[in-house]
Amino acid sequence: MSGLRTIMMLAGGSALCAVAASAQNAPSPASTANPAHWPAAKSAGLIDPATEARITALMAKMTLEEKIGQMIQADIGAITPDDLRKYPLGSILAGGSSPPLGSPDRSPAAPWVATSKAFGAVAMEDRPGHVRIPLMFGIDAVHGNSNVVGATLFPHNIGLGAANDPNLMMRIGEATAQETAATGIDWAFGPTLAVPQDDRWGRTYEGYSENPSITERYARAMILGLQGEPGKGNIQTGRVAASAKHFLGDGGTKDGIDQGNDVIDEATLIRVHSRGYPPAIDAGVMTIMASYSSWNGQKMHGNKSLLTDVLKGRMGFDGFIVGDWNGHGQVAGCTNVDCPAAFNAGLDMAMAPDSWKGLFDNTLAEAKSGVIPMARIDDAVRRILRVKFRLGLFDAARPWEGRADVLGSPEHRALARAAVAKTLVLLKNDGVLPLKASANILVAGPGADSIPMQSGGWTLSWQGDGNANTDFPNAQSIYSGIAETMKAGGGSATLSPDGNFATKPDAAIVVFGETPYAEMRGDLKTLEFQPGDKQALALLKKLRTAGIPTVAVFLSGRPLWVNPEINQSNAFVAAWLPGSEGGGIADVLIGTTAGKPRKDFTGRLSYSWPRSAGQFVLNQGMKGYDPLFAWGYGLSYAKGGSVPRLSEVAGFDASLANTSIFFTKGQVPAPFAFGQSPVLRKPVDGPLTQEGAVALTWPAGGSAALTIESKTPLDWSRETNADLVLKIAYRLDAAPGNAVGLALAGSDPVDLRGVLKPGGWQVLRVPLKCFAANKGVMTKVTQPFVLSATGPFGLSIADIRLDSDTAGAVCPGK
Ligand code: BGC
Ligand code: BGC
Repeated sequence: MSGLRTIMMLAGGSALCAVAASAQNAPSPASTANPAHWPAAKSAGLIDPATEARITALMAKMTLEEKIGQMIQADIGAITPDDLRKYPLGSILAGGSSPPLGSPDRSPAAPWVATSKAFGAVAMEDRPGHVRIPLMFGIDAVHGNSNVVGATLFPHNIGLGAANDPNLMMRIGEATAQETAATGIDWAFGPTLAVPQDDRWGRTYEGYSENPSITERYARAMILGLQGEPGKGNIQTGRVAASAKHFLGDGGTKDGIDQGNDVIDEATLIRVHSRGYPPAIDAGVMTIMASYSSWNGQKMHGNKSLLTDVLKGRMGFDGFIVGDWNGHGQVAGCTNVDCPAAFNAGLDMAMAPDSWKGLFDNTLAEAKSGVIPMARIDDAVRRILRVKFRLGLFDAARPWEGRADVLGSPEHRALARAAVAKTLVLLKNDGVLPLKASANILVAGPGADSIPMQSGGWTLSWQGDGNANTDFPNAQSIYSGIAETMKAGGGSATLSPDGNFATKPDAAIVVFGETPYAEMRGDLKTLEFQPGDKQALALLKKLRTAGIPTVAVFLSGRPLWVNPEINQSNAFVAAWLPGSEGGGIADVLIGTTAGKPRKDFTGRLSYSWPRSAGQFVLNQGMKGYDPLFAWGYGLSYAKGGSVPRLSEVAGFDASLANTSIFFTKGQVPAPFAFGQSPVLRKPVDGPLTQEGAVALTWPAGGSAALTIESKTPLDWSRETNADLVLKIAYRLDAAPGNAVGLALAGSDPVDLRGVLKPGGWQVLRVPLKCFAANKGVMTKVTQPFVLSATGPFGLSIADIRLDSDTAGAVCPGK
């Protein structure tokens, strides 16, 4: 959050925001929906005349400022309680990396409760000319109240999809609501009803299934769990508002690009992507979040036909539509601080984390001038107040708030553990499973004792990175669960991440897979697991060579091409991202002392498993459908099945997976290459490795440019929006006498002269937005690095890559 703000200031705010908008294609006529094609509302909704009358009375007292305030949500990392006295906003959120007031981002319940109270108190203050309206506080409680230390972490949705158990969803929703209400928070930004079609998308794990039949069954159950029965559940009964997201087509973007464009017809949008929404509305979902994505070139935040005509009209949604994180700023013609088009399209509350102040001022002016009609504003405010009444926020009592017995309670953890067991999908078992409880087991692999890895993204931090086991007081690692179970059965478990052992074990459980990621950072170019660097495979081979039967437990946010790893394992379990209760894995893998199963595998694939690394879009029902393991596949103890030796030809060029490293370890890695250039290049020692760097020399008077190039153009609009930086590790060998231009994507060069520091190895970070603001075409990047100078000048370079750490980033002048 703070990094994001730093860059906005450095680079001059709104001018940069327009970059995203200009990158959008003009909407095609095909992005207008015809409501008559869509499913109609099933229930008439729950409009209660008495509540509506209270809303009318309240609205009559509100100033225009107060109405506009209701329509804007700020992030707690960028607003103080005192700000609310001047800007009467209706809602706050905690972004994935935004800490509670005065505390670290990774905080237990108490600071969150205090934060909620501090903001809430200002909204409910008696002040002259102020109408008291409770604030609504939202958070990404997407697999349990997953941003709070000590919460029960349920499996991510991809695993729950494999469990195919709507009743389980309802109970998980209820437990999540209670843990959220206990931290003083009113609103969970879930469930995600995306139906991901291309598994390269980094948010695949947030969707229950590639097939909408599961999403459709789950939407209702999860919302009833979170919110309770319509008209009954509210904050007093330990329920919170849900947010079905992201409307619409988030899972259908071309090439699985995050925040990308759905190039599909209306029928597909209805048949595949919309299916969770009618049951969500039926279950009384209080809010729906607009999607960052576009439909045929038009951003959803600006699509009136879908937001207003279909969702509110035809589908009868009577809650409010919240925007996604500065999602309004991506609508054509808008910026983060100015977007009447989104409100006019039907957005009721904009998520304006750091842009709330400018957006408030501009929206107010547009309300006064009539650019946003008063009727639209009144509709938005009425919907927001309706939800606040339904949620019971106007009643002072909040009996769940601050309850210390709720977060990570034994009941919730038991529920999560049972859920983990149900999510496991057995892909292969040559008979090694179940393991005998009396055996001696080696537990190996980087995921064996890593609660961060088993929990994935949207856990304590936005991307789930930077976490350690000590951040999870109420949790159990997979190894710890195995050790406990083996001990109870008279056997033993030895933890050995690298697979070394003193005494030969009876069998090994090897836990490996993807490291945590969330939006954008999780996007892939190929479905090959560990392209280029087959560490897990080496570990499996080592154990096999030693004659030890191995059970692979694969942690991942999507099916990946793992044929070589499957070949090396005696049994292979897809365990997805199980969350805090690693013990659920031992419950199924480890049998009795006699080797009889205690609990069988019941999980079945809710996503098709690829036969090659290039089967990106592989979904049940498709023409030519040829998966390795089909949708619905899953072995069990009761009904076995063997897997023959699999092809180890990936079928897709792994070098294409690299889109962010342009120079490292003395080389330009594929698919990038140096362009033709007279600049003198000489290998030199880098800060870490011998000959890990290159010295560049411009002789006196010589003008030349050094470029790094890509044959296929890269689309960096998402990376630019996400505030990534170009990070260069350099050493200044001869100070420049003239300008030193750094450019990329065809931008005008920015001058590094005043920025390069002498004195050994240094790091320079330049925001991608800086190049965009200097005319870079971020949608078609063929030159990710261009350095031009007139000698004398000498610079050594050790590393060039895209990076998300914005600390110290600068946008130099031209
Ligand atoms: C994500 C949403 C999330 C929101 C708030 C966005 O970037 O797309 O899913 O709820 O941030 O953190
Ligand atoms: C926030 C996330 C948000 C993301 C959007 C991050 O800084 O912590 O909650 O979803 O930005 O890009």
